[in-house]
Amino acid sequence: MSEVREYLYKILVVGDLGTGKTSIIRRYVHNIFSSNYKSTIGVDFALKVIQWSPEIIVRLQLWDIAGQERFGNMTRVYYKEALGAFVVYDVTRPQTFEGVTKWKHDIDSKVTLPEAWGGGNIPVVLLANKSDLIHEGHGQQVNAEDMDRFCAEQGFLNWFETSAKEDTNIDEAARHLMTAVLKIE
Ligand code: GTP
Ligand code: MG
Repeated sequence: MSEVREYLYKILVVGDLGTGKTSIIRRYVHNIFSSNYKSTIGVDFALKVIQWSPEIIVRLQLWDIAGQERFGNMTRVYYKEALGAFVVYDVTRPQTFEGVTKWKHDIDSKVTLPEAWGGGNIPVVLLANKSDLIHEGHGQQVNAEDMDRFCAEQGFLNWFETSAKEDTNIDEAARHLMTAVLKIE
């Protein structure tokens, strides 16, 4: 029988205030959702253990970074040794999409892959969250072509329309990022 290998990966979750970072993580890790908003202070942590394949167990250490931290000076410390990231925006609030470019730039300027893996930017996936509200008539439809182009230009691995409330696409987005992170080594 082949040996089981275990990997521990640090993954960042960033984005503007109230975009749903904590909710996405709680859905992903605990499969719960609450509509009460309690803003994260500083940073929170969560661990998700995935049986990736019969031989591979992945432990994802998720760093849930408060939206307000974009205006602080701690992100460099929080980003240290991260191997992947999600940038989240709220599809009902266009100004949070403007934050996306800023967060991506913040990540790219403060964290790189280890030298042993060739350095370079860590893989980042963009999440267009609260898609359930679009279907209820709030905000604008996400244009797939525009998003593909935006991701190519800004160096995102890919984008997903997610809903923490309805549990849409969160596993898919995580699997996508994990595939990229596992390829790094
Ligand atoms: P900060 O910690 O302040 O940076 O915010 P955050 O990004 O962690 O946002 P949080 O997860 O706390 O969610 C903010 C609000 O949006 C809460 O009231 C959530 O219930 C709501 N919310 C989050 N995700 C969704 C979603 O997919 N759909 C809907 N309808 N509401 C959501
Ligand atoms: Mg939060």
